[in-house]
Amino acid sequence: MLPLKEKDKPIIQKLLSSGCCARCILRFCCVSVQAAYRQLQQVGLGKCYSYLQLIFKFWFLLVPHSCWLHVKKEKGLVLDKDDVVQVKEAFKWIMQGQVAKELGGVAVFSKSMFEVGVEFTHPDTDADCHFLFFVQSVFTRMAVVKALEKISDAKFLKHYPCPPTQPTSSCCPPGVQCLHVSVFVAGRYNKFCRSLPQTPWVIDGERRMESSVEELIAAPVLSAFRADGFNFSSSGREDVDVRTLGNGRPFAMELLNPHKSRLNRVEMKQLQETINKSSDKIRVRDLQIVTREAMSRMKEGEEEKTKSYTALVWTQKPIQREDITFIDDIKDLTLDQKTPLRVLHRRALAVRQRVIHSMNARFVDSHHFYLGLKTQAGTYIKEFVHGDFGRTKPNLCQLLNTDTDILELDVESVDVDWPPAIPE
Ligand SMILES: *[C@@H]1O[C@H](CO)[C@@H](O)[C@H](O)[C@H]1NC(C)=O
Ligand SMILES: *[C@@H]1O[C@H](CO)[C@@H](O)[C@H](O)[C@H]1NC(C)=O
Repeated sequence: MLPLKEKDKPIIQKLLSSGCCARCILRFCCVSVQAAYRQLQQVGLGKCYSYLQLIFKFWFLLVPHSCWLHVKKEKGLVLDKDDVVQVKEAFKWIMQGQVAKELGGVAVFSKSMFEVGVEFTHPDTDADCHFLFFVQSVFTRMAVVKALEKISDAKFLKHYPCPPTQPTSSCCPPGVQCLHVSVFVAGRYNKFCRSLPQTPWVIDGERRMESSVEELIAAPVLSAFRADGFNFSSSGREDVDVRTLGNGRPFAMELLNPHKSRLNRVEMKQLQETINKSSDKIRVRDLQIVTREAMSRMKEGEEEKTKSYTALVWTQKPIQREDITFIDDIKDLTLDQKTPLRVLHRRALAVRQRVIHSMNARFVDSHHFYLGLKTQAGTYIKEFVHGDFGRTKPNLCQLLNTDTDILELDVESVDVDWPPAIPE
């Protein structure tokens, strides 16, 4: 039985006689029992409209509006437009059930990680909207909604049949798109190569290095999740000639439209192994799925974080072991660093203050030693060592009273406690 009442009779009669469909009758009788809308499916609708034939972009808006004006004409009717069940809602109630049945009884939610977009078009009726052009000059859904709010009933009725005429053609076969919301994967990477940029290196449209950290990690991850694309980000970055050792550098990837959305522990480990084995230039650890929100932890307070480095330093004057021991006693040395010459083409000229928390020196021979540094993130290490023509002050040349240069640099640790370590 349909949940209709005696008082609904005038509306029912009015709508039925104008050829309106049974579901629109339910809508105007403010029936919000979802099952009633689905039930009509099986009963058969006679000459009524079938929803699947009728749904297209503007029909959703125009025909219901015309229907509403038609119903409003009924004398003694007390009906608030807000109480009428919206076409959108009725459509959802009907479709959810049908889709679920079609897919063998799966649960269908309107808010889910997996979105199915179905687009119906009805070219004949697009023309119906043209009169609204004078009210609102662009044709988007919102524009039509706005135009319908503005237009007077009289004007609308002059241009549009009321009650609406029954359509004679069906809408075009629907286009269907399936989309899974992004999955986020995080981990830490080591880079063991001094000729590998972090991201593809392109100068004047020409590729400089054949690979990059990003690509080496992304290729196996993309194929494991069968995603359409990715965005890569990391906690800071290293120069092409700098290695990243120790526990590695935190990174995160957004995987766009993944066709597989989760991996179990074993699969995740296999993926990690695939990346590890794909090249001897990089390794990854702590690979895991994270939330979009957790990803922001990586960028949080990046400036306050510390990083540890080892630099191989060359000195112009010969040195002895004792000449460099004083370095170990220097604590919290504040540097004024003008934007380095090598990055001036892409960064604004500025003076930044950065702190070297501690240092240690390890003698190699009369012209070389290893310098260990623990610094505030964002310190330009190369410039501290060679001085950048006095643009970084103080610098190692001043401290040692000789020209110094940096031959090799390694990142030993990036002290960001995210993502969480995964026990082996
Ligand atoms: C991610 O990449 C896609 C396409 O490559 C882009 O449209 C989108 O804006 C990116 N998102 C972020 C957060 O960078
Ligand atoms: C990959 O390499 C990293 C770094 O050496 C190591 O910690 C991790 O256990 C390796 N994982 C696999 C599955 O090989």
